Amino acid sequence: MHRLVPRAEIASAVKRLAGEIAGDYRDKEPLLLGILKGSFVFLADLVRELDFPLEVEFIRLSSYGSGRRSSGHVRVVQGLRTSVRGRHVLVVEDIIDTGITVAFLLDYLRKKKPASVRLCALTDKPSRRQVPVKIDYLGFSVPDRFLVGYGLDCDEKYRNLPDIHVLED
Ligand code: IMP
Ligand code: MG
Repeated sequence: MHRLVPRAEIASAVKRLAGEIAGDYRDKEPLLLGILKGSFVFLADLVRELDFPLEVEFIRLSSYGSGRRSSGHVRVVQGLRTSVRGRHVLVVEDIIDTGITVAFLLDYLRKKKPASVRLCALTDKPSRRQVPVKIDYLGFSVPDRFLVGYGLDCDEKYRNLPDIHVLED
Protein backbone atom coordinates (compact mmCIF):
# COMPACT_ATOMS: atom_id res chain seq x y z
CA MET A 1 0.00 0.00 0.00
CA HIS A 2 1.31 3.48 -0.68
CA ARG A 3 0.05 6.90 0.24
CA LEU A 4 -1.50 8.89 -2.60
CA VAL A 5 -3.11 11.87 -0.84
CA PRO A 6 -1.84 12.90 2.59
CA ARG A 7 -4.33 14.14 5.18
CA ALA A 8 -3.14 17.76 4.96
CA GLU A 9 -3.92 17.81 1.25
CA ILE A 10 -7.34 16.29 1.88
CA ALA A 11 -8.01 18.90 4.56
CA SER A 12 -7.15 21.80 2.25
CA ALA A 13 -9.34 20.36 -0.51
CA VAL A 14 -12.21 20.05 1.98
CA LYS A 15 -11.74 23.70 3.01
CA ARG A 16 -11.71 24.86 -0.59
CA LEU A 17 -14.87 22.87 -1.37
CA ALA A 18 -16.58 24.27 1.73
CA GLY A 19 -15.80 27.80 0.51
CA GLU A 20 -17.35 27.08 -2.88
CA ILE A 21 -20.40 25.44 -1.29
CA ALA A 22 -20.85 28.26 1.22
CA GLY A 23 -20.86 30.79 -1.61
CA ASP A 24 -23.74 28.97 -3.30
CA TYR A 25 -25.81 27.66 -0.38
CA ARG A 26 -25.45 30.09 2.54
CA ASP A 27 -29.10 31.20 2.46
CA LYS A 28 -30.62 27.98 1.13
CA GLU A 29 -30.62 25.63 4.13
CA PRO A 30 -29.39 22.78 1.93
CA LEU A 31 -29.83 19.10 2.63
CA LEU A 32 -26.42 17.44 2.38
CA LEU A 33 -27.08 13.88 1.34
CA GLY A 34 -24.21 11.49 1.99
CA ILE A 35 -24.03 8.17 0.19
CA LEU A 36 -23.20 5.46 2.69
CA LYS A 37 -20.90 4.17 3.62
CA GLY A 38 -17.93 5.70 1.82
CA SER A 39 -18.84 9.38 2.26
CA PHE A 40 -19.16 9.40 6.04
CA VAL A 41 -15.64 10.67 6.81
CA PHE A 42 -15.65 13.30 4.06
CA LEU A 43 -19.14 14.52 4.98
CA ALA A 44 -18.22 14.77 8.66
CA ASP A 45 -15.22 16.96 7.84
CA LEU A 46 -17.08 18.99 5.20
CA VAL A 47 -20.04 20.00 7.39
CA ARG A 48 -17.69 21.23 10.11
CA GLU A 49 -16.27 23.72 7.61
CA LEU A 50 -19.75 25.06 6.81
CA ASP A 51 -20.98 27.80 9.16
CA PHE A 52 -24.60 28.25 8.04
CA PRO A 53 -27.85 26.33 8.58
CA LEU A 54 -28.01 22.97 6.81
CA GLU A 55 -29.31 19.45 7.34
CA VAL A 56 -27.58 16.11 6.91
CA GLU A 57 -29.20 12.95 5.59
CA PHE A 58 -27.88 9.64 4.35
CA ILE A 59 -28.90 7.12 1.76
CA ARG A 60 -27.35 3.72 1.42
CA LEU A 61 -26.79 2.42 -2.06
CA SER A 62 -25.01 -0.66 -3.17
CA SER A 63 -23.34 -1.17 -6.53
CA TYR A 64 -20.32 -3.19 -5.55
CA GLY A 65 -20.63 -6.78 -4.48
CA SER A 66 -17.70 -7.67 -2.31
CA GLY A 67 -14.16 -6.76 -3.22
CA ARG A 68 -13.18 -4.36 -5.94
CA ARG A 69 -15.57 -5.00 -8.78
CA SER A 70 -18.76 -3.05 -9.44
CA SER A 71 -21.81 -5.19 -10.09
CA GLY A 72 -22.95 -2.42 -12.45
CA HIS A 73 -26.44 -2.23 -11.05
CA VAL A 74 -27.48 -0.10 -8.12
CA ARG A 75 -29.86 -0.89 -5.29
CA VAL A 76 -31.24 1.39 -2.60
CA VAL A 77 -30.33 -0.49 0.56
CA GLN A 78 -31.62 2.20 2.94
CA GLY A 79 -33.86 4.92 1.57
CA LEU A 80 -34.48 8.54 2.54
CA ARG A 81 -36.21 9.31 5.82
CA THR A 82 -36.73 12.97 4.88
CA SER A 83 -38.72 14.55 2.06
CA VAL A 84 -36.53 16.27 -0.51
CA ARG A 85 -39.43 18.02 -2.26
CA GLY A 86 -38.61 21.71 -2.63
CA ARG A 87 -35.22 21.28 -0.92
CA HIS A 88 -31.79 22.20 -2.22
CA VAL A 89 -30.07 18.83 -2.17
CA LEU A 90 -26.31 18.45 -2.34
CA VAL A 91 -25.22 14.86 -2.85
CA VAL A 92 -21.88 14.08 -1.19
CA GLU A 93 -19.85 11.16 -2.49
CA ASP A 94 -16.38 9.81 -1.78
CA ILE A 95 -15.43 8.81 -5.31
CA ILE A 96 -16.95 8.82 -8.78
CA ASP A 97 -15.76 5.82 -10.74
CA THR A 98 -17.97 4.51 -13.58
CA GLY A 99 -20.57 7.12 -12.61
CA ILE A 100 -23.30 4.48 -12.44
CA THR A 101 -24.02 4.99 -8.72
CA VAL A 102 -24.48 8.76 -8.76
CA ALA A 103 -26.24 8.79 -12.14
CA PHE A 104 -28.80 6.43 -10.60
CA LEU A 105 -29.12 8.54 -7.45
CA LEU A 106 -29.46 11.89 -9.24
CA ASP A 107 -32.22 10.39 -11.39
CA TYR A 108 -33.94 8.92 -8.32
CA LEU A 109 -33.80 12.27 -6.52
CA ARG A 110 -35.03 14.36 -9.43
CA LYS A 111 -38.24 12.31 -9.51
CA LYS A 112 -38.90 13.54 -5.96
CA LYS A 113 -39.04 17.18 -7.10
CA PRO A 114 -36.28 18.88 -5.11
CA ALA A 115 -35.67 22.61 -5.72
CA SER A 116 -32.18 21.70 -6.96
CA VAL A 117 -29.74 18.80 -6.95
CA ARG A 118 -25.98 19.11 -7.22
CA LEU A 119 -23.07 16.78 -6.68
CA CYS A 120 -19.98 17.17 -4.52
CA ALA A 121 -17.31 14.47 -4.79
CA LEU A 122 -14.01 14.28 -3.00
CA THR A 123 -12.32 12.25 -5.75
CA ASP A 124 -12.97 11.41 -9.38
CA LYS A 125 -11.54 8.69 -11.62
CA PRO A 126 -12.45 10.24 -14.99
CA SER A 127 -10.73 7.52 -17.02
CA ARG A 128 -13.24 4.96 -15.74
CA ARG A 129 -16.44 6.80 -16.63
CA GLN A 130 -19.24 4.82 -18.30
CA VAL A 131 -22.10 7.25 -17.67
CA PRO A 132 -21.60 11.03 -17.99
CA VAL A 133 -21.81 12.81 -14.65
CA LYS A 134 -21.51 16.52 -13.89
CA ILE A 135 -19.51 17.03 -10.70
CA ASP A 136 -20.37 20.50 -9.38
CA TYR A 137 -17.78 20.49 -6.57
CA LEU A 138 -14.72 18.27 -6.95
CA GLY A 139 -11.82 17.71 -4.56
CA PHE A 140 -9.36 16.12 -6.98
CA SER A 141 -9.01 13.72 -9.87
CA VAL A 142 -7.19 10.47 -9.15
CA PRO A 143 -5.61 7.82 -11.37
CA ASP A 144 -7.31 4.55 -12.20
CA ARG A 145 -6.04 2.67 -9.15
CA PHE A 146 -8.00 1.10 -6.31
CA LEU A 147 -7.98 3.55 -3.39
CA VAL A 148 -8.60 3.03 0.31
CA GLY A 149 -8.73 5.25 3.38
CA TYR A 150 -10.65 8.38 4.40
CA GLY A 151 -13.91 6.40 4.14
CA LEU A 152 -12.94 4.34 1.10
CA ASP A 153 -12.85 0.60 1.71
CA CYS A 154 -11.80 -2.70 0.26
CA ASP A 155 -14.14 -5.38 1.62
CA GLU A 156 -15.07 -2.98 4.47
CA LYS A 157 -11.47 -2.57 5.64
CA TYR A 158 -9.29 0.56 5.70
CA ARG A 159 -12.08 3.16 5.97
CA ASN A 160 -10.43 4.49 9.12
CA LEU A 161 -7.09 5.43 7.55
CA PRO A 162 -6.63 9.22 7.71
CA ASP A 163 -4.84 9.45 4.33
CA ILE A 164 -5.87 8.08 0.93
CA HIS A 165 -3.74 5.15 -0.22
CA VAL A 166 -3.36 3.07 -3.37
CA LEU A 167 -4.03 -0.57 -2.57
CA GLU A 168 -1.51 -2.64 -4.48
CA ASP A 169 -2.64 -5.74 -6.35
P1 IMP B 1 -19.39 3.96 -9.58
O1 IMP B 1 -20.85 3.63 -9.55
O2 IMP B 1 -18.62 3.02 -10.45
O3 IMP B 1 -19.10 5.41 -9.90
O4 IMP B 1 -18.83 3.60 -8.18
C1 IMP B 1 -18.87 4.45 -7.14
C2 IMP B 1 -18.70 3.68 -5.85
O5 IMP B 1 -17.77 2.61 -5.99
C3 IMP B 1 -18.15 4.60 -4.81
O6 IMP B 1 -19.20 5.11 -4.05
C4 IMP B 1 -17.27 3.69 -4.00
O7 IMP B 1 -18.01 3.15 -2.94
C5 IMP B 1 -16.88 2.58 -4.91
N1 IMP B 1 -15.50 2.76 -5.42
C6 IMP B 1 -15.12 3.15 -6.65
N2 IMP B 1 -13.79 3.22 -6.77
C7 IMP B 1 -13.31 2.89 -5.56
C8 IMP B 1 -11.98 2.80 -5.02
O8 IMP B 1 -10.96 3.05 -5.67
N3 IMP B 1 -11.89 2.45 -3.71
C9 IMP B 1 -12.98 2.17 -2.94
N4 IMP B 1 -14.23 2.26 -3.40
C10 IMP B 1 -14.40 2.61 -4.70
MG1 MG C 1 -19.58 4.85 -2.11
